[in-house]
Amino acid sequence: MINTSYKTNIYRTKTVALLLVCLMFSVSIYAQDVQNTFIPQPESVVYASGGFKLDENTKVFIPKKFSKALAPMVSSTLTSDTGLSLTVNAGRTSASKNVIVFEKVKNASIEAEGYVLEVNASKITVKATDYAGLFNGFQTLRQAIPAGSNGSTAIPSLIITDNPRFHWRGVLFDVSRHFQTKAFILKQLDVLASYKINKFHWHLTDDQGWRIEIKKYPNLTQKGAWRADRTGIAWWSREHATADEPKTVGGFYTQEDIKEVIAYAAARNIEVIPEIDVPGHSKALVASYPELFCFDGETDANFELATGGKAPDNAVCAGKETTYAFLEDVIKEVAELFPSKYIHIGGDECNKTNWKKCPHCQKVMTDYNLADEEELQSHFIQKVNKIVTAQNKLMIGWDEILSGKGAKGATIMAWRRGRHTPELQAPREGYPTIMTSYLHSYISRVQGPTFMEPEGPNSVLPLSVVYNHEPIPAELTAKEASRVLGNQTCLWAEFTPTEEHFEYMLYPRTLASAEVSWSDPKVKNWERFQNALKSDHFKRLERDNVNYANSMFTVYPAFAIDQLNTEAIVFLKTETVGFSIYYTLDGSDPTINAIKYEGDFKTKPKTLLKAGLFNEAGELLGEITEIRLK
Ligand code: ACM
Ligand code: ZN
Repeated sequence: MINTSYKTNIYRTKTVALLLVCLMFSVSIYAQDVQNTFIPQPESVVYASGGFKLDENTKVFIPKKFSKALAPMVSSTLTSDTGLSLTVNAGRTSASKNVIVFEKVKNASIEAEGYVLEVNASKITVKATDYAGLFNGFQTLRQAIPAGSNGSTAIPSLIITDNPRFHWRGVLFDVSRHFQTKAFILKQLDVLASYKINKFHWHLTDDQGWRIEIKKYPNLTQKGAWRADRTGIAWWSREHATADEPKTVGGFYTQEDIKEVIAYAAARNIEVIPEIDVPGHSKALVASYPELFCFDGETDANFELATGGKAPDNAVCAGKETTYAFLEDVIKEVAELFPSKYIHIGGDECNKTNWKKCPHCQKVMTDYNLADEEELQSHFIQKVNKIVTAQNKLMIGWDEILSGKGAKGATIMAWRRGRHTPELQAPREGYPTIMTSYLHSYISRVQGPTFMEPEGPNSVLPLSVVYNHEPIPAELTAKEASRVLGNQTCLWAEFTPTEEHFEYMLYPRTLASAEVSWSDPKVKNWERFQNALKSDHFKRLERDNVNYANSMFTVYPAFAIDQLNTEAIVFLKTETVGFSIYYTLDGSDPTINAIKYEGDFKTKPKTLLKAGLFNEAGELLGEITEIRLK
């Protein structure tokens, strides 16, 4: 009953508000009433009273130089955001009423990718020194248009000055463990770009699938892109495939597909960085070309792709010259295809057991006086680095490439923060470093209590941890810190067999990461961010058919039972701020008429606890947590 009348009230309030807006369209918007819900939070936002009325007569002007890429995007996004079809013109205008003007300027206070956005009653101006800045300014303008607009709409007057903290604001997609279609990737690029993510790290190869067409080596995709079907079997318990089993799971991108993705991304200020993961994580490669494996002829190695789990025998031979000739050919094709100045060559988690027994690897170690297999890995990485630099590219590697003698000239992705200290070592040793901490940025980890989330690794990375991460360690000097290029989340895809699930893992945590990577820490605020999601961005994601998680509203339970088994003490927790937990102990679903959680409490063991998070209006925000206290 209470719920129903509450809904009716809201409905009435909404109807009255709508009528008022319709009747009083030109009436001022009061600056103090406007909520700042931008993500990532800009450097400075100053509201003024009144606003700009966006309607079907509003005209858009884009500098000629940028209009080919920007105009179609501005036109189509404004239509999908508001339903309006606006005229978008290339060039300047002398009109000063009802126009949106993009301007390329020379302004020392606007940095690369930065912009100034000004909205007043007659005009909207986006100023930047480069294409990226105009694109980013437009994304902020889109967020200034009220979510749910349909037709004419009022945009509050404001001035936003904004510059990025980092120029590397990345997201990794692992398309090897589970393939994602080109259409899905294009859709994600739109979403990511709208939050000013500017690097798409494409993890194209791994033990479970090689995903990029290489013309010179067709087996890589004829064989290497397809594995035996183990759907429904736990990732870590999957049986190896046999040679005569059908291989039906997988897919790959043709070079034409890849060009299309790169162009689509570039128009959205996103650089695509390919990763070819060697010398480990190469089961799909050695299964396709077994001659690159350490042992020739008779071997009990299984030359089928991994179906899941770990893959033994997945390293390429570091001793054979044919390995390097092969990689040179592959890297040449990759370099031609991708305009990025970077090629990521992996270098992580290489199982060196075979290298210890391999005559080719051991001979190279003797010839080059290498102390151990770690130094052989450096030898391998340095040779690959030469291949990469010969293509006028810079090599990126995971932080394992620091081991042995390191890899001069490389850029490091520091992922093992907490287990090792690459986030200190790499910048201290002079390496440009991208922070990809598995503790803070591996969004393949589940985002709420494991028993309430879809299947994933048994490890939790809540939204607030991603948001509160500070990529630059306090221990670094200013000079060392200046080597940190930025921050990146990684979505490893072992547990995301469907695109829907993949999206669920991406959002909203990449929005948190976008704010970490873009915004000055001084303007970051978790409470503001979570409210901006709830009041605004979740609506935008729904509008764009993006499947996001609302796990930040889940109540985390913890309990302990005394030795005599007479009492359970219960603790409840939420990562959000400003909401209340209500719970029941009688099996009924909690509402705001249930017991309010004010701190830990005692009850009988075996009780069924149900708890939920509610806002002031009495609305249940997330899912109900249900747990038997035993
Ligand atoms: C990694 O997670 N192996 C880079
Ligand atoms: Zn070998």
